[in-house]
Amino acid sequence: MKKTAPELRQMAADGEKITMITAYDYPSARAAAAAGVDTILVGDSLGMVVLGYDSTVPVTMEDMLHHLKAARRGAPQTFIICDLPFMSCAESGAALRNSARLMKEGGADAVKLEGGEDWAPIVRALTKAGAPVVGHIGLTPQTAGQLGGFKVQGRDLEGARQLLRDALALEEAGAIMIVLEATPAELAATITEKLQIPTIGIGAGPDPDGQVLVYHDLLGMFDRFTPKFVKQYALLEKEIVGAVKAYCQEVKEGVFPDNAHSFSMREDVLKDLLETDAFHAS
Ligand code: KIV
Repeated sequence: MKKTAPELRQMAADGEKITMITAYDYPSARAAAAAGVDTILVGDSLGMVVLGYDSTVPVTMEDMLHHLKAARRGAPQTFIICDLPFMSCAESGAALRNSARLMKEGGADAVKLEGGEDWAPIVRALTKAGAPVVGHIGLTPQTAGQLGGFKVQGRDLEGARQLLRDALALEEAGAIMIVLEATPAELAATITEKLQIPTIGIGAGPDPDGQVLVYHDLLGMFDRFTPKFVKQYALLEKEIVGAVKAYCQEVKEGVFPDNAHSFSMREDVLKDLLETDAFHAS
């Protein structure tokens, strides 16, 4: 059964950890749902791990919708959050239009946007219009350039205070959950304690109400870089390359396909075929 936002909040209140993983297509969403995740994030990280961009900035609304629809087909009974891509929600009109598309056309249950207290008015407008919003603070990949790169956020007093203000402002504006990315564990614990809504950590230590990882990171399918906070539960890229190599070798050697992977026809039909004029003519 698909979890609801109030149920996710209740899980956090009960101390039951919320699991979230990114998924970007039918097979990854199917696998996530089969594993029993509480929520799926169709993250704009797809720009890097699926589309091969250097950052999430080039990702468009059409990209998000395309991947969201496939993920939704793979996990019809899972709470799906979809990212609003870079500059798709910088003012409330666009935020409302694009969130409506993600929910109505793509089947998202909630939308996620990156940014702190400056974004509270947008979160408020979306919430008022009926769109559940997930916030995302700390390291915000869409604006990593402004943050000086993919760096831990909130390590100094002013940075930590700002993140706390950001979290409180987003909650006050109506956010249903907040992703905390790359923040010191102690700060994430403090923010989690101060908020009523669930926090979801990624590189934020063990205390947030839930955790999220990128599908390709968790499975060892993205080797351009591996952040410290990623735990690889499998090394599938290696497995995949090994399997494709074996296939290529068997084709070259004539080992594949063998009888077990081929179709045959009745001998009398083959004989008739070889004896017909039509066959000889062609
Ligand atoms: O786009 C994404 O995958 C995300 C996660 C890293 C939280 O925002």
